[in-house]
Order: sequence, then structure tokens, then C-alpha cells
Amino acid sequence: MGKTELKERLEQLLDTDHAGRTLICLDEVDSTNRYLRALAEGGAKEGTLVIAERQTAGKGRMGRTWESAKGTSILMSLLLRPSYEPEQASMLTLVAALAVEVGIRAATGQAAKIKWPNDLVLERKKICGILTEMCTIDTKIQYVIVGIGINVNQTAFPEELRDKATSLSCMLGHAVEREPIVAETMKAWEHYYDIFQKTMDLRALKEEYNQKLAGYGGEVRVLASEGEFTAISRGIMDQGTLLVETAQGELLEIRSGEVSVRGIYGYV
Ligand code: BTN
Repeated sequence: MGKTELKERLEQLLDTDHAGRTLICLDEVDSTNRYLRALAEGGAKEGTLVIAERQTAGKGRMGRTWESAKGTSILMSLLLRPSYEPEQASMLTLVAALAVEVGIRAATGQAAKIKWPNDLVLERKKICGILTEMCTIDTKIQYVIVGIGINVNQTAFPEELRDKATSLSCMLGHAVEREPIVAETMKAWEHYYDIFQKTMDLRALKEEYNQKLAGYGGEVRVLASEGEFTAISRGIMDQGTLLVETAQGELLEIRSGEVSVRGIYGYV
């Protein structure tokens, strides 16, 4: 499918106030996050959504790359122009994860789990990654870009990813339409973002997030710079930190970016 068909179909399906109402579809771009950043610098509106069929330099978290063959994934970035503090913006990744989970489930029936803070997994393999980037001047947020990559129609993965990644079509055994997932995700985004904005934290969303959290109540491995340890995942707190209980019964709040949390058997 080309960018024109993608745009037409999406415009038919989108049922939102602002998310995706300014819609830019591209055949190829270096990174939708980078492209949207340039638009944001030029004054683009909140809710502007950039979607590409292919990225030549897709960005992942921690300086990693995000690879996908043309037309197989959802590669999109959403622009926000919040008036709150930079510390609160880190929670947006968790809000986005909730929205993508609903988007995937509404469009395909597949109930993914969230790997805190920002991946979605199906049968312990990654199906979606989220990269939230922010521009601040003098500690004031200018804009935030929420970049979302969803594996949809890949039929195979490179050797090194085979145990760690999957796609919706691998799970379902047939090709999957991407546009309904985008439209449902944008609708869910507005729903959850409204709730988030009422309190500027996750207190009203954490119960739902924890229900969808991979490994909730089970053992996880916490990989911190000081070393690794096993703990029980007690779910997220109001500010999006993950609460874990150590073998000694001590409760620790883990901040994203500081450490990585895994299930004890592998990626999830
Ligand atoms: C991760 O899991 O490391 C986050 C991956 C985020 C990938 C998406 S694809 C669309 C958007 N544009 C980018 O360059 N990255 C994000």
C-alpha cells in the first residue's frame, strides 16, 4: 500500500478530536520521530501524526535502532504540546502503552501484555516499542513526540531477534490490516490522555496498567548498574515507577531509564 491509500483509509477510520487529525503519511523517511521534530519546530499542532511505510534510520530507546521492512509495521509519531513539567512527561510512555494495547485488542482481538515501561509483548515476545522524546527550553516543555513502532505483518525475524520479537501476523497466521489498529490506538490515546491530564499522574490508570503488566505479582530480574537481583513485581505507582519487593521484604521504587526489568526466564 502507498501513502495515499494509507492516508485515505485512515481518514475514513479516525474517530478522534485531535489525535491524527493532522495526518502526514510518507513512503519513506529517516525516522518519523525526527521528521515530526522538524514539523514541531515549525509550529505543527498538538495531535499531528506522522506515519511512514519505511524508516531508513528508525530510532529505538537507549540509542538503539528500530528496523523494519517496508510496509510491514506501523511506524508513527504523535505530537503533544503539554503545559506541564518535564518530570510528568516520562509517564506519557506508559499512557501510550495502554492506548496501543487497546488499539491492538480492538482491531485484532490479541491481548498483549505491557513490559514496563514501554514495550508490548505477546507470548513473551516484543510486538511494540515506544520512544518518547521531549524538547525543553529553560525547563519548560516545548513539545513531546511519542514514537510508536508495532510489528504487524513481518513473517520472519532476523536470527538474533527470533526469540525476542514477533508480529501480529505471526500470532494470527494471516495478514493484518494496519489502519484499524492506528485508528483504535488514537481513539484510546485520547481517552487515556484525558484521564492522565485530570491528575497529571497515573493514579486513575495504574490499576488497569497493572492488570496488563507482564510479570505482575511474579518474579522479575532487576538489572541495575550496581548489579542484578531478583524481586517480586508489585506494579506501578502513581508516578509510573515500578515497585518491587526484594527477597528481604524491602520495597524499592524503580525508575525507568535507571534499570531494566526482565522476567526471570528471558526477554519478558
Ligand atoms: C524501543 O523499543 O526501543 C522503541 C522503539 C520505537 C520505534 C518507533 S518506530 C516510529 C518512531 N520513529 C522512530 O524513529 N522510532 C519510533
